[in-house]
Amino acid sequence: MNAESRPKPLEFIDLKAQYAALRERIHERMQRVLDHGQYIMGPEVAELEAELAAFVGVRHCIGVASGTEALQIALMSLGIGPGDEVITSPFTFAATGEMIALLGATPVFVDIEPDTCNLDARHIEAAITPRTRALMPVSLYGQCADMAAINAIAARHGLPVIEDAAQSFGARCQGRRSGGLSTWGATSFFPSKPLGCYGDGGALFTDDENLAQAAREIRVHGQSARYLHTRIGVAGRLDTLQAAVLLAKLPRLEWELQRRRELGARYADRLAGLPGLRLLAVRPGRDCVWAQYTVFVEQRTSVQAALKSQGIPTAVHYPMPLHRQPAYAQFAARARCPESERAAAAVMSLPMSPDLSEADQDRVIAALRLALAA
Ligand SMILES: Cc1ncc(COP(=O)(O)O)c(C=O)c1O
Repeated sequence: MNAESRPKPLEFIDLKAQYAALRERIHERMQRVLDHGQYIMGPEVAELEAELAAFVGVRHCIGVASGTEALQIALMSLGIGPGDEVITSPFTFAATGEMIALLGATPVFVDIEPDTCNLDARHIEAAITPRTRALMPVSLYGQCADMAAINAIAARHGLPVIEDAAQSFGARCQGRRSGGLSTWGATSFFPSKPLGCYGDGGALFTDDENLAQAAREIRVHGQSARYLHTRIGVAGRLDTLQAAVLLAKLPRLEWELQRRRELGARYADRLAGLPGLRLLAVRPGRDCVWAQYTVFVEQRTSVQAALKSQGIPTAVHYPMPLHRQPAYAQFAARARCPESERAAAAVMSLPMSPDLSEADQDRVIAALRLALAA
């Protein structure tokens, strides 16, 4: 195929179209910050926190520097540290296990459900020990983990639950929003997430007044008043400019979430039953906002290559579960996670963003059908 006849490459995530749609509003919001000059903890941060708390349906939202920082601050607010164990999924972005380990605690990896790739609640109780201090499920790909079952186990054992909702902002579980389903919800505003800013950002959600106060202090070096450091904290603030970008994006969020659901349903409808391919299950009473549209394929390497030759980018979220990663070898001994290993060998994510046109999606579907038939 010569250069002229090669199909135009698609974007994996089309952030440019989103920016084009919101350009004026984003400029106007950012200009206001440039005019008032309060780049650190300016009024946009509190304004965003109020909006997001209402959206998620909780009393407190704390804007923070990233999704990673959100997880770290949630763990710190619960006093988790050396000698403690936190039960989590190994099939996630590294930040989930990393923040547990960074604080000197032990991530205890429990396997996933093979059809949703979320933590399998049936294995949690067997992993609880007297050292267990929290459960940290991940709502992967945009669908909540089985939070009802996980919360019930946590309540039986008197444990807090931190939902890693980095990929599931806006998703619903039994009518309630992801992030507002447990002790803490932690999300990310990484640009490609369901609600993304133009750099790093994140947020924490809780109904607990004391935990919210602790997190507010931890994010500013543990200060309870200016230069009064009552705890050890971090530099964990959300930039005012990023809060301004997020505020500009909020009026379009519901439309974007709906578009993600529709495009996800469209993929599922047109890909169901193809040989060599399996779809992710979406549980009744939950929806998926498809931070990534991920499927399982048997011949991943050749399918990815065939799609690439048609200008269709794919990605693998994630190729190696955490208990198999070199840095986590010390935590591998207790991990019995065959489903995570199977998923890591088979998952493949297809282009997905609210601005993906149906014509471009049809191109992905046609190319994938062809690749699977080869
Ligand atoms: C499941 C999960 N947890 C945590 C994070 C970390 O978020 P951030 O990149 O904003 O630090 C991410 C983002 O990639 C994620 O996907």
